[in-house]
Amino acid sequence: MTSFPLSLGRFDHYTLIVPDAEASTRFHIDVLGFGWVREQKVNAGSAPEGEFDMLNHVLHLPGDPSRVVVITEGLTESSIFRKYLDAHGPGIHHIAYTVDDLAEAFAKLEAEGITMTSDRIVHDPLSGLRQVFLGREQTGYFIELIERTDAAEEGTFKEDNMAELANTMKSYLGEEGGRTPAPSEVVAEIEAPPEAVMDFLAEPANLPAWTAHQTVAQTAAGHWVERRMAGDVPLNVVRGGEGVTFVWDTPGKPFSIHFGVAQADNGSRISVAIPEGLGDERARRTATVIGAELVLLASALGMDIDSAVHEAARMEVARFHLEVYARPGA
Ligand SMILES: [Fe+2]
Repeated sequence: MTSFPLSLGRFDHYTLIVPDAEASTRFHIDVLGFGWVREQKVNAGSAPEGEFDMLNHVLHLPGDPSRVVVITEGLTESSIFRKYLDAHGPGIHHIAYTVDDLAEAFAKLEAEGITMTSDRIVHDPLSGLRQVFLGREQTGYFIELIERTDAAEEGTFKEDNMAELANTMKSYLGEEGGRTPAPSEVVAEIEAPPEAVMDFLAEPANLPAWTAHQTVAQTAAGHWVERRMAGDVPLNVVRGGEGVTFVWDTPGKPFSIHFGVAQADNGSRISVAIPEGLGDERARRTATVIGAELVLLASALGMDIDSAVHEAARMEVARFHLEVYARPGA
């Protein structure tokens, strides 16, 4: 049985971060027909005791009173909400979906290395309300998973949870969006001897089986190319003493990546340096895809891989294949 996709329940609520909650609320009510539910003020930590740094206006959606939008404004300069607004501008901060079992969903996401803003579930002990945020680098916005209980029904929020959840976004506040830097290297250990790994890597015909380069093919003249929408790109696979280098000879902009192969206790240690100069976003994507490719490589070399992990890797690689195919050709 595969772990993904997750079985999300209904859309629960969404949250905006704005400079002026009152003005945004008026627009939603007067122009769009949203309905007033209540105001909720919270101290997420930047206000003195007894005061607040987070103002929330909860409105119900015009067509569905059980679903709400939360319009949030930071009340202090040093509040997370004001800093977030400065870093990312006003707009949708997150969209929340219910799940029946957040612990189970959390474990699956964690096992796949999917980024969440906290390493544990935010939990209100009294009501049992549980929440987490998936990191926005994956989708461009935060996605909240929320497990509701009879004591925390639709449209209700617990202030301690709101404060704690808010504090999990701290790494997204800086100039860089506060994100951890893109990894510079991806490493995996594979239970196969280095010679076997090198033999497999160095065979271009194997690429479609384990990488996003699924249209690698041999021409009638015997050259290896990657077929792309815009034309074929020559591909060279160079086997050296310490690994295998793949070189795409895109005109004016050759691209290469090296898979280092070394002896490890239990087989081989594969290390792949993320090429420099890709930019943060592409470096991050590249690292994710290489991670997935290494899972497929391990599987192709006979390692026993959990079926859910294998399926997730296969999906990632298939998605990236479409990006590769759309890249400039020769
Ligand atoms: Fe939320």
